[in-house]
Amino acid sequence: MTRGFIYGLDYIPRRRSIRQYNDKPVTEELIEELVDFLSQLEPPQGGIDWNFDTLPYTDMVSIAAIEPGVKAPYYLVLRAERKNFSLQNSGYIGEMAALWLCSKGLGSCWLGSIRVTADFPDTLPYVASVAFGYADEPWRTDLDGIRRKPLNRMTIGDFSGPKGEIAEAVRLAPSSVNSQPVFLLSRGNKIHIFRKYVPFKIPVLSYMQCIDTGVAMAHIHVAGSKYYNVVFGQQIPEPQWGKKIYQSTASLEDK
Ligand SMILES: Cc1cc2nc3c(=O)[nH]c(=O)nc-3n(C[C@H](O)[C@H](O)[C@H](O)COP(=O)(O)O)c2cc1C
Repeated sequence: MTRGFIYGLDYIPRRRSIRQYNDKPVTEELIEELVDFLSQLEPPQGGIDWNFDTLPYTDMVSIAAIEPGVKAPYYLVLRAERKNFSLQNSGYIGEMAALWLCSKGLGSCWLGSIRVTADFPDTLPYVASVAFGYADEPWRTDLDGIRRKPLNRMTIGDFSGPKGEIAEAVRLAPSSVNSQPVFLLSRGNKIHIFRKYVPFKIPVLSYMQCIDTGVAMAHIHVAGSKYYNVVFGQQIPEPQWGKKIYQSTASLEDK
């Protein structure tokens, strides 16, 4: 997969949303490294145009409708053409950035609430942002008190061994208002990924939960790559699980 990335659960338990940043400058070299890291990512669904920017606070303020709820030295601005699965791809890219930043000692926080009204002309549609910078707040060290549902409420099938690590990585994934909308169904060497049924198809909820799904897929990729080549694809016919919405399947192939 990704050059320079540490596989497994190294940073997944440590990451948490950081909403207070200190003044330690983020160097240009680090921004360049982040740009290089993101530029070589292959999001789960090919054929969807995407791009991103890393903007300092003042530039973010100038494109946003109102001041961002989280004040940070930098913002990763994610954009993608409007196509089926582009929000999931953006979730994947942004969360890869969050884990990469964590590995470099920087905190981050997804911001789904920012509305961008004055983006650069002729660029792709705005999706969401991730605030980032250095922080004095500690990383997460204790998973006991974490506000997450138990594994048995988000999985069906055999999740023993490495698959258990993958499911735990999804359990720890950030999600909009901590909604934890992703469900996993284990079959053979595959994990089918679903998201929660949204009553009345409330657009803002569906939008956020598509991004949440991509975030969870980044965690599947990072955790699963310790043991397997993780390959995402859509199964036909689509696997079914009640009213839940099928998203994708992770095939766990021998390395
Ligand atoms: C797509 C997405 C959008 C989010 N939007 C916001 C936001 O607008 N403001 C905010 O403070 N946190 C936001 N969050 C962070 C979540 O509230 C946070 O991930 C969740 O409460 C779990 O906490 P943790 O990240 O510390 O594990 C968002 C997370 C995701 C994945």
